Amino acid sequence: MNANKVSRADDHSVSLFGLGDATPHERVMLVTDEKTGLRAIIAIHSTARGPAFGGCRYWSYGSDLAAMEDALRLSRGMSLKNAMADLPFGGGKAVILRGDGQHERKAMYQSFGRAVQGLSGTYITGEDVGTSVSDMLAVREVTPYAAGIPRPDGFGGNPSPKTALGVFAAIERGALHVFGAPELSGLRVAVQGLGAVGWALAERLHRAGCKLVVADIDDSRTAAARRAFNAVVVAVDDIATQDVDILAPCALGATLHRNSIPALHARLVAGAANNQLATNDDGDALHERGIAYLPDYLVNAGGIISCVREYEGGFTEADVDAEVLRIADRVDSLFVRASKAGEPLSRAADHWALEKLAS
Ligand code: NAI
Repeated sequence: MNANKVSRADDHSVSLFGLGDATPHERVMLVTDEKTGLRAIIAIHSTARGPAFGGCRYWSYGSDLAAMEDALRLSRGMSLKNAMADLPFGGGKAVILRGDGQHERKAMYQSFGRAVQGLSGTYITGEDVGTSVSDMLAVREVTPYAAGIPRPDGFGGNPSPKTALGVFAAIERGALHVFGAPELSGLRVAVQGLGAVGWALAERLHRAGCKLVVADIDDSRTAAARRAFNAVVVAVDDIATQDVDILAPCALGATLHRNSIPALHARLVAGAANNQLATNDDGDALHERGIAYLPDYLVNAGGIISCVREYEGGFTEADVDAEVLRIADRVDSLFVRASKAGEPLSRAADHWALEKLAS
């Protein structure tokens, strides 16, 4: 778990029903299977726009309550993300609690797939942190309600490149608003996390002429970034506070909080990580500091757009790329909306997404 994370799940005075920003969920399911070692939570936040669509995270949590908090926050985020991206789906998410490594992975994911199948299409799953394409192929053997499966023509599968495409487009457009910069060349960008999305984003930023500062808990990734992008490598605890123009959080959530925000130097924050704000108030704190925060669920929708269009069928890769690039137009609209309403970007985005969710 991220060292910087401030989790309310660690506060033992917090009740189960106070988690997930206290937002009501339509349905939350606990799944256990002793035989395969599966311990999972499937959270369906909303099916108002259609079946709940969102990936499955495989992670080690400090406590079961922390896993529940993650599932609830992630599933709510998917409702906002899918609505914001104008996708005909609701929001849901699953987390599988990493076990002792004694069980066969494929059998565990198939057990998870059977639970998804039991929901009869109310929830459609896919990849998230810790879950790979081969895991999703195992899930797909037992249920059709799974996406992120490569098609014979090469389209589909791992959604990370499309997520990175969308994050890059959002950063480009955000930089135009914040710095008046028509291109990114020469801007300093801190990339927090060099996984599937962070690495693909770093590649794009490097090609665009950005100066990169990077951190990852995996030293082999930062060493590779030093070689490939001439990136400056810093400690994971120092990445958020680097003297950079742009911060791109691409690891786990809740890295923007009351302790980290006062120390930020970046004037634009935009990245792939889900739930970057520890609380909604942290969006206000960023605004008060004059930092433009582009909400994660607006910025990182490229992956879900790819998964949804792959799942629905009938779309080409070019169609998907064009749809992902529309994220930049939403960034424009968000600046206009926030300025008109006189509110932080994070609040304006929430209001916009909730309007869409209700329509
Ligand atoms: P990943 O698991 O491939 O990469 C995460 C990276 O962050 C890893 O390299 C890991 O070592 C590193 N990391 C973990 N803790 C860290 C810390 N404290 N400081 C620095 N680095 C740390 O995951 P992926 O797919 O790249 O996703 C990254 C984030 O983007 C996640 O929050 C995910 O939920 C979100 N996201 C991913 C999408 C996708 O298409 N893969 C779509 C939308 C959101």
